[in-house]
Amino acid sequence: MSLAYSAQRLERELGPWRSTGAAGTAYRALADRIRLLLLDGRLPSGTRLPAERELASTLSVSRTTVAGAYAALRAGGYLTSMRGSGSVLSLQGATPEPSRGEPATAPTADDDGRPFRWDLTQSAPPAYAGLAAAYRQALEVLPGYMPEAGLDLGGLPELRAAVARHFEERGVPTAPDQVMITLGAQHGLRLVAQHIHLPGGRVLIEQPTYPHAIDTFRSLRARLIAAPVDVHGTDVEAVVGLMRAHRPPLAYLMPDFQNPTGSSLSDEDRARIAIAARGAGTVVIADETTAMLDLDRGPRTPLAAHGENVVSIGSLSKTAWGGVRVGWIRGRRDLLESIRLQRRSIDLGTPILEQLTATVLLRDERTMVDARLAQLRAQRDALLAGLAARFPGWTLPPAPGGLSLWVGLGDLSSSALTLAARAEGITLVPGPRFGLDGAFERFIRVPAVVPVPEIEPALTALAAAVRRVEEGSPSRRRGAASPAAPVV
Ligand SMILES: Cc1ncc(COP(=O)(O)O)c(C=O)c1O
Repeated sequence: MSLAYSAQRLERELGPWRSTGAAGTAYRALADRIRLLLLDGRLPSGTRLPAERELASTLSVSRTTVAGAYAALRAGGYLTSMRGSGSVLSLQGATPEPSRGEPATAPTADDDGRPFRWDLTQSAPPAYAGLAAAYRQALEVLPGYMPEAGLDLGGLPELRAAVARHFEERGVPTAPDQVMITLGAQHGLRLVAQHIHLPGGRVLIEQPTYPHAIDTFRSLRARLIAAPVDVHGTDVEAVVGLMRAHRPPLAYLMPDFQNPTGSSLSDEDRARIAIAARGAGTVVIADETTAMLDLDRGPRTPLAAHGENVVSIGSLSKTAWGGVRVGWIRGRRDLLESIRLQRRSIDLGTPILEQLTATVLLRDERTMVDARLAQLRAQRDALLAGLAARFPGWTLPPAPGGLSLWVGLGDLSSSALTLAARAEGITLVPGPRFGLDGAFERFIRVPAVVPVPEIEPALTALAAAVRRVEEGSPSRRRGAASPAAPVV
């Protein structure tokens, strides 16, 4: 089954494509942009592109430009055109395109057989050093749970109590029955969002924002309205104004170390937003996935302390490991009860071993978080210093916490840089993936997840990618790392 894109819809996804591929011709820039959207998962494999004439007229370019772009995509194996059924994008047939004479500097695979040396598509750190020991402790007590069926939609009472303590310690009185254990924060987001009737309804988001939140709301056919956020903070006037004007049933915010900008809401702004949300009848999802990664900001009161209409989601993915797949929802009891009823259609609970491991980890959460902070501080500092030294024209964020550096690229195109970086062994996510309709072409998210000894070689490779873009020779030699992989 192919999914047909109208020329208007494709134009929205393309964003400012003409600026990509510096010295390239228009047809090549258009082909590069479509290819990047495909590699990046924003145009799914199977997408049927509009007819050449229709797209040319919408983009105000000649039909030759569109025909040239489609031909280039076909030559790379990214597009199949069949008489009568149009032109369909595909990653199956994509073959590495011949280089344009660049030296083969990039490794084809790292020591683990991964195709790229630096995967900067995910702001997800490796596992906490104490994780294996926590699993061992959990295994010891697991047999005590085996006489039961092991299916529990709410979560183990001891873990719910541990998560409730996590909130209490941060200043939000919480009873264990105000907590539901989930398969990570993404699962929590989906469960809450689908509980609120969204088809055609509005959801207020920050922009830029976490890409899979956009995916979730779009899959629920919500209409997105966005308030701007940058590295210095969220436009709270816009949040409050949009709530008053549109009364969206749902808002999705990251109050602490927003992904990707790293900025946070002040305590005062939290209170303002909670009041406006109450007035508008808006449920606010506070995504706290990165809230514990406070590198040098200082504590703030969780949004949930400001109102009953705030539902918090969080997880152990950034402090312990994404592979644990344990998260939580904290909210009103009645809301959790109805979510529990709906959850049965999706899954039947979180694995017991992982829940027991999470309970062990949360018993000494401070030690785990401190270990993570020490590692992230060192990586952030080295990355910021290295970026400042190599790219004086770029704008670096203050990055007081979280995992992402939202870097302003000056005149450089994020999409072109992403393509060129592949040739140097680095995978990145271009800025537009964090926005709606192609915004943020002048930004790139650089996650501070590269180990310190790897930062210099990674930046050397990035500098080579920048030179490629400036010389107008982004390579087409490399394929996608894994187009279906999450962008977290
Ligand atoms: C802001 C944000 N929300 C949610 C998630 C998903 O987290 P989890 O791995 O707990 O599902 C991520 C993951 O990186 C994230 O950055």
